This record gives sequence, structure tokens and C-alpha cells, in this order.
Amino acid sequence: MVEAAISIRHLYKIFGARDRELVDAVRGGMGKAELLERHHHVLGLKDISIDMPKGGIQVVMGLSGSGKSTLIRHINRLIEPSGGEVVISGENVLAMSPGKLRDFRRHKISMVFQRFALLPHKTIYDNVVYGLAIQGVSREKQRASAQRWIERVGLKGYENRYPAQLSGGMQQRVGLARALATDAEILLMDEAFSALDPLIRSDMQSVLLDLQEELQKTIVFITHDLDEALRLGDRIAILRDGEIVQQGTGQEIVLTPADAYIQSFVREVNRGRVIEVDTIMRPVTPETAGMASAGPSIASGSVIEEAARAMARDDVGTANVVGPDGRIVGGLTLQGVLAAMVTPAEDRHPPR
Ligand SMILES: Nc1ncnc2c1ncn2[C@@H]1O[C@H](COP(=O)(O)OP(=O)(O)O)[C@@H](O)[C@H]1O
Ligand SMILES: [Mg+2]
Repeated sequence: MVEAAISIRHLYKIFGARDRELVDAVRGGMGKAELLERHHHVLGLKDISIDMPKGGIQVVMGLSGSGKSTLIRHINRLIEPSGGEVVISGENVLAMSPGKLRDFRRHKISMVFQRFALLPHKTIYDNVVYGLAIQGVSREKQRASAQRWIERVGLKGYENRYPAQLSGGMQQRVGLARALATDAEILLMDEAFSALDPLIRSDMQSVLLDLQEELQKTIVFITHDLDEALRLGDRIAILRDGEIVQQGTGQEIVLTPADAYIQSFVREVNRGRVIEVDTIMRPVTPETAGMASAGPSIASGSVIEEAARAMARDDVGTANVVGPDGRIVGGLTLQGVLAAMVTPAEDRHPPR
């Protein structure tokens, strides 16, 4: 298991005045509907435990109302839990003094919002510099950092424009630059790309993945879109009605959906872009070591669509999977690749 930057342990959130008293009832099995009916309290989150990987992207996915925003707001303690713990780099966020919490929010965490949350009467430059001014860094450093991030997200030349003069995609680049400029280790992104048109959204996903390769921040990314979750997430947790229904890698979720609810999301996914060659290859044994098949070399960790494309290009039915050191670690057949790309027939019509 990779080191966790953010550890959420048995987190409960009930909205209402008697929330703490009612945690035991929920622990004992009282559901959202009954809690509302009998006690007029809303169940936000129930027994959430997630270890979010340091330097990785943790996606939290679920339909509207499933508790995603409630969960992410516990990380910087914009919401007080009814029970449970949030531990960040070994520190319990709930035990922080007000002063400590303020420091933590200014320096350790940045947020990117769905509606960009830019200050309309300030220029792009001033919007990006905003978090730094709050941090109290020198003017000189503010300028250097803001300029660097404005350029890095592709907005050089727009420094003196106002948000309303920019397209949605460009505004979200400003939001990203502002969050990155503070140098915070943790980025919280609540449906940050959900308001963008599909092509621009895909663009922004590329920008984020590109930046992440270089920066390796701990990112908590919320979305209701499975394709986005699969593209961005090193780990994915799926919420329904305030509970985690499944968590794991994208591949694990696509290959072994925990229930019919998740299966219904997963059915539409392009499996070729999710399943890795390592999952379906025939591993090398001592007997077959050193024996290459005819066909292209595919890097371990590639998705099977890439393998299919390489085999089609070379017009062969086999390929070799190679490790980072160039050694062959397994073999693929085109037939095996194609079989894995097609959704198993029994998944297409799940029992009702
Ligand atoms: N302040 C609040 N008071 C009462 N109920 C709330 C409050 N905030 C959120 N909820 C409820 O908690 C549930 C989860 O909401 P939310 O976290 O906003 O979902 P999501 O971000 O997944 O759409 C919903 O049922 C919502 O109505
Ligand atoms: Mg939300």
C-alpha cells in the first residue's frame, strides 16, 4: 500500500442539531429515509474510510446528492463531522486549534471550484496572486509565482484581462493557476471540470494530468462522470447515498463491479482504455523466459487498446509485454486482447 496523505476513518455526517446523538442509530443500521422520517435529520455520510495516496489522484465519484461535496469539505474542515477522523500527513484535522487550522488552509490546501469562483472585478493576474497575498509572501515572490503559473496553464498574454473576457475553459485554467500558485501539497477539486463542454473538459483533463506528472500533488478530484474518473483517478471511490459502494483502481472497478449499480455505470465504458496488458497477458515462466513471440513490444502498464493498435499496425496476432528494463514479462494474443475489450455477454443485461 502506498503512503496515505489523507486518511479518512469511519467518518459520519448527519445534518441536524442532534447529529452526534444519532450517529449510534445510524451505526446500528438506520438508513437515510428512516433518519429523515423519524428524526428529521439528513444522512450525509456513513462510515467512510478512505486512504488517499500521497502524490496521487483520488477520485470520488457518485450521482448528485450522494455526498461528494460533503466529503471533500471535511478535508479542510469546512464541515464538522458527526463522528470519525480526518488525518492529514499524520495530523488530526479535527484536533487543530483555530490558528493552526487557518495556517493549514492557507498553506497546505488549495481548492478549485466548479463555477471557477474568480473575482469578477479583478484581472487574471490579481486573481492568481490572490492566495499568495493572503499567505503574506513578498511582492517579488508573488509576482514570480503568479507569472510562472499563468504561463504554465497557457494564459500568457491574458494577465490584464478580466474573467468575463475569457471562455469557460480559460477561466478554469485561471482557477487552476490560482490553486497551484500557493504551492499547497493538496488540491481539492469539486466537479472542477463538470461545467465545461466535452472537448474543453477533455483538454483540461490533459492539462491536469500533464501538470500532475511534474508536480505529484495529492489531488482529491470529485466527479459524477465515470470516463473522467477512469482517466484521472489513480484510485476511485464510488459513493451512493452517503456510503462507499466500492473503492479501488479504475481497472478493478471495471473488471469486478461490486454490484448492479456500479455495473450499470461500467457497462458503457471503453474497456480497451482501462484494462492493462498485464492483467490479460500470459506471464513468462522459467521455461519460456527469453522466448519472444513475433510481434511488437508493448510496455507493461499500457492499456490493451494500445496493444491492439500495435498488433493491427504490424499485422500480427501476437505481441510481447516488456518491463521497464526491456525484458519480456509476458505474451499477448490479438484474440485475447479483443475478447477482453468486449463486455462479457452476461454483463449486458444484469438481472433486475
Ligand atoms: N447543509 C446541509 N443541510 C442538510 N442537508 C444537507 C446539507 N448539505 C448537504 N446536505 C444533503 O446531504 C446529501 C449529500 O449532499 P452533497 O454532499 O452536496 O452531494 P453531492 O456533492 O454528491 O451532490 C444530500 O442529501 C444533501 O441534500
Ligand atoms: Mg457536490
